[in-house]
Amino acid sequence: MTDTKKSATLSLNGESYELPIFSPTAGPDVIDIRKLYAQAGVFTYDPGFTSTASCDSTITFIDGDKGELLHRGYPIDQLAGKSHYLEVCYLLLYGELPTATQLEDFEGRVTRHTMVHEQMHNFFRGFRRDAHPMATLVGVVGAMSAFYHDSTDIADPWQREVASIRLIAKLPTIAAMAYKYSIGQPFVYPRNDLDYAANFLHMCFSVPAEDYNVNPILARAMDRIFTLHADHEQNASTSTVRLASSSGANPFACVAAGIACLWGPAHGGANQACLEMLKEIGTVDRIPEFIARAKDKSDPFRLMGFGHRVYKNTDPRATVLKQSADEVLELLGIEDNPLLQVAKELEQTALHDPYFIEKKLFPNVDFYSGIILEAMGFPTSMFTPIFTVARTVGWVSQWKEMIADPQNKIGRPRQLYLGETARNYTDIENR
Ligand code: CMC
Repeated sequence: MTDTKKSATLSLNGESYELPIFSPTAGPDVIDIRKLYAQAGVFTYDPGFTSTASCDSTITFIDGDKGELLHRGYPIDQLAGKSHYLEVCYLLLYGELPTATQLEDFEGRVTRHTMVHEQMHNFFRGFRRDAHPMATLVGVVGAMSAFYHDSTDIADPWQREVASIRLIAKLPTIAAMAYKYSIGQPFVYPRNDLDYAANFLHMCFSVPAEDYNVNPILARAMDRIFTLHADHEQNASTSTVRLASSSGANPFACVAAGIACLWGPAHGGANQACLEMLKEIGTVDRIPEFIARAKDKSDPFRLMGFGHRVYKNTDPRATVLKQSADEVLELLGIEDNPLLQVAKELEQTALHDPYFIEKKLFPNVDFYSGIILEAMGFPTSMFTPIFTVARTVGWVSQWKEMIADPQNKIGRPRQLYLGETARNYTDIENR
């Protein structure tokens, strides 16, 4: 953060207040309003954080107008094309691309933590079989606090490091176990000879009775989905993790809070909602009906997988994933799948519709990830858990950055109160 000695002047009730301005390395200047209440006795109002920087960070940068996403300065299309998920995890966590030795050491550390405590298996059995895997994930990840006591002291940098590795390593195992439990199949232990994405496919799709060989193209597509979802600066779930952590809560509890937030259909739940919408549309001839509903302000229906709070031109993750979707569908020989035809037609119709053009609503990452995951054989209920696996490194990196900052304060927003002012209690017989 560079203090440029620039400032903004606020005129209020005949008084002037000088507000410092910080200039970032990229992106718009930021007005520092931290002393505003103490000096001028007013709050600022920004319920959806549309103009508010909640923290400073060096991890991820997004330029929504340009459709640019950088992790530690590296463009997401280069990372998706040339790197792989665990290398991107290293980059997010430690700030630089690893050397070959550093990468080998990091991969070894993650791999050694892929199993979960055997007693945790009992937790899964406490859930109904038809529980949504996200419900299971919220519960089981929160419960990690009860198992890994030696990595819950957030004041100890070593324990923070161990907790980070455990979360990144165990989330695929936990997500795969939630899936296996939901379909009544035995849990599959991780295989440390496979890479991160291939091991996840193995834990989801292999059964003890048969050999299962992971298709390398599908493993590559899975790795790309993980890479593209790894971090996205101060989105709703990451901000949830930061806010929960600001009180000093342990990392497992905080990541469980992030998972709960990610579940919503306006955020990570959109990939499931998008595929379900495509199924509901069913055939190409019904697209106009759904487009009309999406434009009708009296109808709460929205075109899932379209629009983004920050990207107002194109979602760079969607551009990469569209290519992956084409590759996977060609590999699996399902180009003429009816669902896919609806997806392709809907994409084109929306891209040429004046409403969507005017409001800058483009297909986002969830539009294409759902198509790939469906083709791979995942049920829609697993889409958001897969997003969760991928985003864990983003939450953990942002959490580590925040905790290491000596200026870290508990997050405590203020409000615009519109309720009753003080009044006297009325006894029940007089109401
Ligand atoms: N379909 C139809 N209209 C839409 C849509 C949509 N998907 N998205 C936004 N709009 C309209 C909205 O009605 C509003 O119109 P008006 O100005 O007339 O009131 C205008 O576009 C702006 O929308 P907004 O709700 O103010 O925008 P937002 O920045 O608060 O919401 C969003 C962003 C992603 C929540 C929203 O676009 C949406 O609900 N999209 C569908 C859900 C989805 O795909 N979410 C995944 C996001 S990407 C993955 C992730 O990062 O989690």
